[in-house]
Amino acid sequence: MAFLRVIPILYVASCSLAVVKENFKTCEQSSFCRRLRGFKAEVSPYQLDLTDLLVTDNALETKLINTETNSHFKVSLSAVHGDIFRIQVDEVMGLYPRYNPQYALNGEPQPAKLRVVDKSKEHITVQYSDNKATLHAKPFKVEFVKDDNLVAVLNSRGLFHFEHYRTRPTESENEVEHQKIEDPGAWEENFKSHHDSKPKGPSGIAVDITFPGAMRAYGLPEHADKLPLRTTNGGEPYRLYNLDVFEYEVDSPMAIYGAVPVLYAHSPKHTVGFFWHNAAETWIDITNSKDENVMSSLVNLVSGSKESSVSAHFISESGIMDMFVLMGPKPRDAVKQYASLTGVAPLPQYFTLAYHQCRWNYNDQDDVTSVVANFDIHDMPVDIMWLDIEYTDGKKYFTWDPVKFPNPDEMVNNLTSTGRKLVVIIDPHIKREAGYFLHEDAVANDYYVKNKDGTVYEGWCWPGSSSYLDFYDPKVVDYYKGLYAFDKFKGTTDDVYIWNDMNEPSVFNGPEITMPKDCIHHGNWEHRDIHNEYALSHTIGTFKGLVERSPTRRPFILTRGHFAGSQRYTAMWTGDNAADWSHLAISYAMCASEALGGISFCGADIGGFFGNPDMELLQRWYQAAVWLPFMRAHAHIDTRRREPYLFSEDVKNRVRIALRLRYAHLPLWYTLFYEHETTGEPVIRPLFYEFPEEAEVLDIDNEILVGNAVLARMIAEPGVSTISVYLPGGPTEQWYDIEDFKMYQGGTHNIPVSLDKIVAFYRGGNIIARKDRPRRSSSLMHNDPFTLYVALDNKQTASGTLFVDDHASFEYRAKKYLYLHLEYADNTLTSNLIDKTDYPTKEWVERVVIFKPPPGVKAATLTSKTLGTVDLEVAYTREHKALVIRKPGVNIREPFSIKLY
Ligand code: GLC
Repeated sequence: MAFLRVIPILYVASCSLAVVKENFKTCEQSSFCRRLRGFKAEVSPYQLDLTDLLVTDNALETKLINTETNSHFKVSLSAVHGDIFRIQVDEVMGLYPRYNPQYALNGEPQPAKLRVVDKSKEHITVQYSDNKATLHAKPFKVEFVKDDNLVAVLNSRGLFHFEHYRTRPTESENEVEHQKIEDPGAWEENFKSHHDSKPKGPSGIAVDITFPGAMRAYGLPEHADKLPLRTTNGGEPYRLYNLDVFEYEVDSPMAIYGAVPVLYAHSPKHTVGFFWHNAAETWIDITNSKDENVMSSLVNLVSGSKESSVSAHFISESGIMDMFVLMGPKPRDAVKQYASLTGVAPLPQYFTLAYHQCRWNYNDQDDVTSVVANFDIHDMPVDIMWLDIEYTDGKKYFTWDPVKFPNPDEMVNNLTSTGRKLVVIIDPHIKREAGYFLHEDAVANDYYVKNKDGTVYEGWCWPGSSSYLDFYDPKVVDYYKGLYAFDKFKGTTDDVYIWNDMNEPSVFNGPEITMPKDCIHHGNWEHRDIHNEYALSHTIGTFKGLVERSPTRRPFILTRGHFAGSQRYTAMWTGDNAADWSHLAISYAMCASEALGGISFCGADIGGFFGNPDMELLQRWYQAAVWLPFMRAHAHIDTRRREPYLFSEDVKNRVRIALRLRYAHLPLWYTLFYEHETTGEPVIRPLFYEFPEEAEVLDIDNEILVGNAVLARMIAEPGVSTISVYLPGGPTEQWYDIEDFKMYQGGTHNIPVSLDKIVAFYRGGNIIARKDRPRRSSSLMHNDPFTLYVALDNKQTASGTLFVDDHASFEYRAKKYLYLHLEYADNTLTSNLIDKTDYPTKEWVERVVIFKPPPGVKAATLTSKTLGTVDLEVAYTREHKALVIRKPGVNIREPFSIKLY
């Protein structure tokens, strides 16, 4: 965002395109991070009193004592269905209640049975399936064992620390919370005065967890960083604190808009996950033995061997300590275990997976109409137009600018009559203007977040002076969801969807551009406790509003701020990136990390938000974005117009091809989202997810897998004529270039690339259903026929799935869908329904393309119930790379087989 435009005085110092780091705290400047990172004990002072023990069917509870301060805590260890352990630590007789996030979990985790298998005064071991956990008393430590292998140890480094509210702050802790920050004038005053006030005293919590044998750590989105987490010793820890970071930089552990505190420690042998269920500001130090010698002592501590190891140190400002250990054993298991806790994204509408055209801002309603007309004229598909903040009447959400958008009904009807949709922005800050109904309602009914003295909090955002709705108050959610009703939000229809931005929340004149931590939310929680969850609470309100407004349509919401569990309500994007190769390069890593954090529906603004991309960068960005779940072009208000039809024939052609490739693969995306909802598997996957045993893939993040069938390699290097691509799976794995069908075996390949080249492969063993007829929008493709691409593996077999329904409603939950299993073996392709469901459709099979086909095929016959047995035409393509079977003509609803002769 450009608050340069709003409060120029504060930012004149920054003339280069780079983040102003001084606006954001370092760990050293964040008093709890400094204290807890500095907390080191030869031997942990924390000890369990195992004489005080309560064992139930699925949990045990015992007492923990800080032997230096004599503070007491209760510890519970429970088994959660699906190979998960949960450990909770809270104070005994704390002065204040501690916060536990309310919205991240998808309901209460399902308890599983555990039994005590070993017990003494010094330790107790419980077992659940092939998982064991041992609590050691002196010092406090918890070991996790899977299949007799030690896979994780909590507090092996003695960094566990729990600042008890009963322990009053010492003089030195009461000093100014951060070191003197250079610059930036007035803003600092605000920052400082806020941070000097600490009414409740220190309430930080920290723990270390070590993963013996692990080679990499992944996860902890959102950071603009490489996929594998790096060792942070000596530098800044990874920070999770939802922040609106102007011109964020890449390769950085700095906090940005979202926070998903789940980490995966991985080795070819084992993968374990660790979910730190906490919504307060959090810092995480990572140590990987491959990077440093510093780990040798640690390795010995936990395993006595020299094997590799990863360790993490979690530090949060407040809250209870609530941890889940996801026992794996493979990445797929750990990620699904995380999904079993925080939920999955419900199947989105089909159009949401198509191409979105956004800009800050489309000037007026004629501009919207003309952009879509131009896409049509230039024969480029587009499904969704977006309106940024300027459509509103003076940044008052739920209103329209009367001059630029005098007739939204007409604009929306024009747009949606061509099968297109509209998305409009609604931010959570509310303009404090007399006469603005929303502000007046909020004041009259007490809907705003408060200052610590009980007055309404005021901050500065797009509209100027603003206050913030408190979505922690059920009456606010009730009111807010009603604002989306058609009779309230005039001009909107079933085809208008919502973009929730600035919900970290962004406050231009607040400490670190956000809300002061001592603001008060409903339930008397301080903002410090709930900060990372605020955006999620906002989007839940929106989600409820859309469901109530359009009960038969699946909502679509895009959010910027996000937290664990956001996937149940929203898609997200990586915020304000820049028209720079480094930002394109980091986009796969950022979205892959989100996908591991449960949020598959992720994208990065095509072209880069800030700045003007050159033609090469813009084209490469479109080509790469074909393979991310959310595909939207967006640009800052100060940039030149860059709708793709504005450029030369060559550029247009390449973008057109990229868009058509995306549209051709919409059935694949849609099927993957359906499978995500039913299984928790991510839609996009880093390579180690599918190839966990392959050491070569551990650091690869310029490639991504779409499901398990497509591997895409972005080109984020300017001016290249050859690129290197690693295809996993070893020499028996077969990969097919999707453009020329050339077959490659697993291994590293150098591939010549022109500007036209989109580097993507189908993995042998898969059948991919595509819709190859070019259309102007996805809705016009609904009845189009499929082409089935059969990519054979080295055993001459392949299989795949395809999900078909009405693309929009919830009827699929009432069994109104088709879910197909496609299989190729013994020179025969078959299609069968997986579930006993039905959905009448006009969609049919137009063509089958078999890669690396058997030689000598002369004919084919199709057999189905209604068509009987019919002969089909077959032909090899040039060089016999593929065999094409023409016009099977069978409706996709009908099971069939096609036999080659
Ligand atoms: C924020 C968003 C950006 C949007 C702008 C104006 O910066 O991240 O996408 O264009 O606000 O609403």
